[in-house]
Amino acid sequence: MKIMVLMGGTSAERDVSLASGEAIVQGLREAGHQVLAIDTSKGYKLPEHQTRFLPNGVKTEPPDVRALQTEGKKMALRTIESFSLSDVELVFLALHGGQGEDGTVQALLELSGIPYTGSGVLASALAMDKAMSKKIFEREGILTPEWFLLESSDSTDLSEVLRKVKNAFGYPAVVKPNDQGSTVGLTVVREEKNLAKAMDEAKIYAEKILIEKYIPGRELTVGVLGEAPLPVIEIVPEHGIYDYECKYTKGKSKYICPAELSIEKTKEIQELGYRAFKALGCEGYARVDFRYGTDDKFYCLEVNTLPGMTATSLVPKAAKASGIDFPQLVDRIAKIAIKKFKG
Ligand SMILES: Nc1ncnc2c1ncn2[C@@H]1O[C@H](COP(=O)(O)OP(=O)(O)O)[C@@H](O)[C@H]1O
Ligand SMILES: [Mg+2]
Repeated sequence: MKIMVLMGGTSAERDVSLASGEAIVQGLREAGHQVLAIDTSKGYKLPEHQTRFLPNGVKTEPPDVRALQTEGKKMALRTIESFSLSDVELVFLALHGGQGEDGTVQALLELSGIPYTGSGVLASALAMDKAMSKKIFEREGILTPEWFLLESSDSTDLSEVLRKVKNAFGYPAVVKPNDQGSTVGLTVVREEKNLAKAMDEAKIYAEKILIEKYIPGRELTVGVLGEAPLPVIEIVPEHGIYDYECKYTKGKSKYICPAELSIEKTKEIQELGYRAFKALGCEGYARVDFRYGTDDKFYCLEVNTLPGMTATSLVPKAAKASGIDFPQLVDRIAKIAIKKFKG
């Protein structure tokens, strides 16, 4: 197939996206496809012979938000229009976060009438909005950490927020932007006096701030490919929480796949992961993040509709554990997308 891979973009996950793009382009080529690599924020085709899009790899911190704003936001539109979509059979999305993952680019592709990988417009938008996702999880009986949302309008009265946290679940509490990824802007607040600073940090990245009860325990994630969950992965991050550095720096996290869980618990979390995926209406593939509480319960944190796709990312690791290598994985994702659009 002739496949266009979209990567880069202007979200805080730009670097991670370029790393995913690099791996996806290579994987698709190995699987025998003809690939066109596009950086949506630059508005250009990356040279045919180029294989490294982020030569120094992902840094320990996300790129500066102000620097990202200078990247061309409107370029995505122009880029997608300008590469004669008629002879591209499929768009493979290697974008992460922002408009590449929240349904905006998906809507643009719907309008262009070109098949694309992963979830559609609504599921992408729901999954990107953590509070919306949590409302659906609760409706479906999928446990999620206790929470409340601060709309930008009510986030200013600090004493009110302090009272709310104290009454709802106390400390530690987790403060995060409602629609970010890669643990960007997230803080675990252990004492009341640190809440304001955590809110300021989250506000850099989002209008709405989610405050959640901290779930002590283990970190687990379930990938879904097509209509089935993949083997469970346990993550043991060096920093206690799975932050940006632990996510993207080699050796900063230990990964155990399949996770050491009883057969019953493995089945339970895989079913939960698949149900969360279906509840939001996801398609193709995704990854569902959980905390495994010391109370022996699984708490669903979120669904990632465009999870990391470097050769060492979590979904590729889980796929590998079930005998699917990276080129086979991207080929499967591409074929699932084609099948969906052909109906
Ligand atoms: N309620 C929570 N309790 C404990 N740890 C949490 C909680 N929420 C988030 N974390 C930690 O922060 C990481 C990122 O949170 P997550 O909700 O998955 O957002 P992101 O979209 O940034 O990945 C998690 O993988 C986990 O390590
Ligand atoms: Mg996550």
